[in-house]
Amino acid sequence: MRMVDIIEKKRDGKELSKEEIRFFVNGYTEGAIPDYQAASFLMAVYFQDMTERERTDLTMAMAESGDTIDLSEIEGIKVDKHSTGGVGDKVTLCLSPMVAACGVPVAKMSGRGLGHTGGTIDKLESIPGFQVELSSDRFIRQVNDIKLAIVSQSGNLAPADKKIYALRDVTGTVPSIPLIASSIMSKKIASGADAIVLDVKVGEGAFMKTVEEAEELAHAMVAIGNRAGRKTIAILSDMSQPLGYAVGNALEVKEAIDVLKGRGPKDVTDLCLTIGSYMVLLGGKAQTIEEARTKLKKALDSGEALEVFKRFVAAQGGDPSFVDDPSLLPQAHYKVEVQAEKSGFVKKIIADEIGLAAMLLGAGRETKDSEIDLSVGIVLNKKVGDYAEKGDSLATVHTNKKNIEEIIEKISSNIILSEEKGEVPSLIKEIIA
Ligand code: URA
Repeated sequence: MRMVDIIEKKRDGKELSKEEIRFFVNGYTEGAIPDYQAASFLMAVYFQDMTERERTDLTMAMAESGDTIDLSEIEGIKVDKHSTGGVGDKVTLCLSPMVAACGVPVAKMSGRGLGHTGGTIDKLESIPGFQVELSSDRFIRQVNDIKLAIVSQSGNLAPADKKIYALRDVTGTVPSIPLIASSIMSKKIASGADAIVLDVKVGEGAFMKTVEEAEELAHAMVAIGNRAGRKTIAILSDMSQPLGYAVGNALEVKEAIDVLKGRGPKDVTDLCLTIGSYMVLLGGKAQTIEEARTKLKKALDSGEALEVFKRFVAAQGGDPSFVDDPSLLPQAHYKVEVQAEKSGFVKKIIADEIGLAAMLLGAGRETKDSEIDLSVGIVLNKKVGDYAEKGDSLATVHTNKKNIEEIIEKISSNIILSEEKGEVPSLIKEIIA
């Protein structure tokens, strides 16, 4: 087989065989296929697309290019969850113990990530003593014992995706539905789950800016998951404004605890209940979506989900006393209020600009080697639809830097006030199964 023939075949819009796709993935991962041929192939896919069968073969070849996690020693149906990423997305932190409290094992691998804030693993590291690395025996034992473990993603999970993604990043081939869908699904499948619930974010703060784009990506991932024998459901959720109020690592941990205490922001709680219902349903712990939601609400109201969270923190070496005393989490030195310059209803909060402001404070990584400051970030005091009087605080900035006028200006100019109360965006746009 020759790579040039595969490139020409895709360039001419023809369907590739499983063997041809594997030849590319394995050859590129091993270094036998050079960057220039891989880049040319990716550009051909960008323009010519792939059939569902080709997308699934690409996903499986990438999933099998490195370690695949065997969760078979964990009792029950393992359901994983993935978010395409957004500003203030702390859902994994509160959702996982809720689902575990309903009896569904959550054996989760998460990442650090670039962007507005750290990933779930960074957020968990703001808990004093918390260990994000466990041996695979301990990981499995912990899930069997308390139904929940969250660890840092193994270095050798889907190495083909890592290499291909780095090339896409510099060759204009990131925004391609078959390439994004196979990239995300390869990591989920390599992580070993039996079923997958996807939270596909849509809006200014998300990768997919319109509902149409998000729908296309969601359909593509659901088709791949189901063809690969993993029951997959996607939820399209709003990311036009940040999720919840807190944007920042330790600040988001605190907000997630509030959700588990039953006093968290309504949008975060509702999203956890929706995603969680599908996880409980796919995990076989409810017969209907209504029954699953009722079980999750009970886990929250009874305090069982909070108890599971405390057990999980202690099992991974953390000190759960911060749950009752959040001042034990990392704290920034200064708090600065962003005041409303006029009275009015909050019409829009541009999520990606707020995320960028959090990153400039030090809450997120600009490059993979940047250090992040777990204590800093932004807590919104108003959300879309709320009324603010001139001088009211729109947001509180938690910072360790003194000269942040430009960041304050960025936040202020991206919380847009209007005389008329605009439409509050709906949180759940669509469910794709
Ligand atoms: N996230 C991924 O993991 N891969 C992509 O291609 C895009 C977003």
